[in-house]
This record gives sequence, C-alpha cells and structure tokens, in this order.
Amino acid sequence: MKKKFCILATAFSLLFGNLSFGAKKQETPAPAWLKKTTEVINYQLTKAAQTYQPGKNPRSVNPDGTVRIVGVKDWTTGFFPGSLWYGYELTGNKELEAAAKQFTLALDSIRYIKDTHDLGFMLFCSYGNAYRITGDKAYLPALKDGAKNLAARFDAKVGAIRSWDFGKWKYPVIIDNMMNLEYLYWAATQFKDQNFAKVANAHASTTLKNHFRKDFSSYHVVDYDPKTGQVYRKATHQGLTDDSSWARGQAWGLYGYTMCFANSNNPKFLAQAENIAKFIMNHPRTPKDKIPVWDYDVHNALDTDERAPRDASAAAVIASALLELSTKVKDGQKYLDYAEDILASLSSDAYLAKPGTNGLFILKHSTGAMLYNSEIDTPLDYADYYYLEALKRYREIKKI
Ligand code: GLY
Repeated sequence: MKKKFCILATAFSLLFGNLSFGAKKQETPAPAWLKKTTEVINYQLTKAAQTYQPGKNPRSVNPDGTVRIVGVKDWTTGFFPGSLWYGYELTGNKELEAAAKQFTLALDSIRYIKDTHDLGFMLFCSYGNAYRITGDKAYLPALKDGAKNLAARFDAKVGAIRSWDFGKWKYPVIIDNMMNLEYLYWAATQFKDQNFAKVANAHASTTLKNHFRKDFSSYHVVDYDPKTGQVYRKATHQGLTDDSSWARGQAWGLYGYTMCFANSNNPKFLAQAENIAKFIMNHPRTPKDKIPVWDYDVHNALDTDERAPRDASAAAVIASALLELSTKVKDGQKYLDYAEDILASLSSDAYLAKPGTNGLFILKHSTGAMLYNSEIDTPLDYADYYYLEALKRYREIKKI
C-alpha cells in the first residue's frame, strides 16, 4: 500500500511539478528532459497495450512502417511486458499494471522451453518484474521451471551455459548470455538452491577468461569444444568482424559484470565491469551524444554519417549498467555523469518518439543485426526496456 502511494506520488510530482507533496524528499530538482519522458512513456505504453494482443508482442518497426509482431518463443518477448511493469512504476498508471499482468501471463508456456539461454530475457524481464512489484506468488512456478531449464544448459567441462542450439557451432557461448545470470542469482535466493548461483558464478568466470581482449573489449561468440572444454574458436555473429567490438555486446558485458558483482561480491567481477566501462567511456569513436554506432570498429562513425547507424539499445543498456555501477564504487560520480548524458540524449527529440508515432515504441534509432540487413535504425523492444529501467535507477539514485 505504502509502495503504491509512493509510485503514484512520484508520478504525480513528475507530471505536474513538485507542487503538493511537501513531505516528499526532493533532493535534486528533476532535469527538464526527465519531466517530458513521463508523458511520452505513459502515452506510448498505454496506447501500445490497447493496440497489441497478449502473446503477440511488438518487437520493432519494419522498413515499410508496419510493426514487427513476435510470438511467445521469440527471444525478445519478455521485454514488452517488462516495459509495461516499469511503465507502471514510473507513471503510477493502473491501466499499465493491468496490461502488464495480461501480457506477462500470456508467456506462461516459455517455462517449458529448453533450447536457448534467452530464458532470462524472456521470463525474468516479464515474470521477474511481475513478482518483484506485486509479490504475487502465482508468478513463481513459471519462474522456477524456467530457471531450472536455464541452469540445465550448463556444462561442467566447459564451465558455461550453452547459448544457442542453432547454427554450425560446437558449443557457442555469447557475451549476451551474461545478462541471463541475474535470473539464476535471484533463483538461488528465492528457491533456496545454491546450485543456481554456482552456475552463474562459473559462467561469469569462464566468460571473463575467454571472451575478452587486452583492451577489455569482447568477442561476441566463443565456441568451445565440448569434448575437451577448450576454446575452439572466437568469432562474431552480429558484429562487423570476428575481431571487432559490436556495440551491444560491449553493453551486455558491462551490464553483466556489474550485475554479477552486485549478486556475488566477487571483486574480479567489479574490476571487469570497471575495465569494460573504461573501454566504452574512452572510446575515440563514440559520437558526441554518447549513443554508439552499432559496432565500435565502423570507421566512418561520424555524427552525420548515414552509413553508420546508431544503436540506442546499446546506449540504454550502458546507461542502466553505469547507474548500477555508480552505486558500487567510491568514485561512482563519473559513471553517474556519463549515464546522465546518455539519458539526456535518449530523452531528446533526436531519439525520443513523439506520442502516437514510432509504432508506439518509446525510442528511435536502434540496430538489431546490421550485417543480416535486419532491424537497422529502428525502434526495438529491448531499447525501450533498458531505457525505462535506467530512468527508474536514475530517479532512485537522485531521489527525484
Ligand atoms: N541477444 C541478441 C542481441 O543482442 O541482438
């Protein structure tokens, strides 16, 4: 009850200014860009929830302007329900809470999927947020089944979870897989089974050893030989080249190690997160607005170069990760400042949709898989999800 009042009070003060909740701590005045976001988020998510059907979730916008709708088995399917949950927290709008519940429950059958590491994205972003916000135990059985299926993909000889079952790989592990460990850490505590945390720690340690280069950029895919557990080859799937630094991959790594430290207290994970942050924050090809081009090794990454599409999804993940990292170290201000710059850019007209446009997504200008000619310079459901998460973290840190 208290929590619900807080959500409503915060949303009211953001929408209408800090007028009447005198007792509320207002330690930092909300920046102008933040005030505008609440209105856009509320409009886009409410309309989207009225427009789309549970179980058929909006993923991106096709080149012809139609919205790409995906079914329950798509790796991104947890993000729209997750965005509705964050949208409810950010705006206090009860209509979003009701929609979030419907869109979450439509994903129940994911609990039986066994052939992907994406179960974290699919279930923890939807059911995980549902349980975190409501405390309703009805969400737990699906979360338990999914966590078991994710942990079952761990191979002790390799020391990692197998990411994909498709393609000509022997035992592919992708940097993105780091994101799905949060689900396992949570499951270890929730279901009182330390095996989940052991799997997460082992996967993060193996990835730390084999995925990174000297400058702390990462390969996208490390393919292992499951017979020996040794690295077979290092390659890419979505990056420019095997040796390049795919922007979203760097973002997944930063977020992954920050979150692993938060859950394990292992100082090696914190050091890794700070080193990845250094790579990202000091990269000479980062555009002025701090929204990266889809791969850091695209050499024509000038602000005005149309051949180099940006990836707002990578920026949103980086912002959310840096906000968390800023709370884990003594000198976190530099991370907070960088994240704030990203959020201000994403919240400008250049990236934030005008209400009613953009297929009812919130952010413009992300890139899914450039070399497959797929989802280039488009809204993406996961860009919106991590943007909303970052806004929530930002408001909590700044006590706005
Ligand atoms: N996890 C797939 C991607 O980031 O595109």
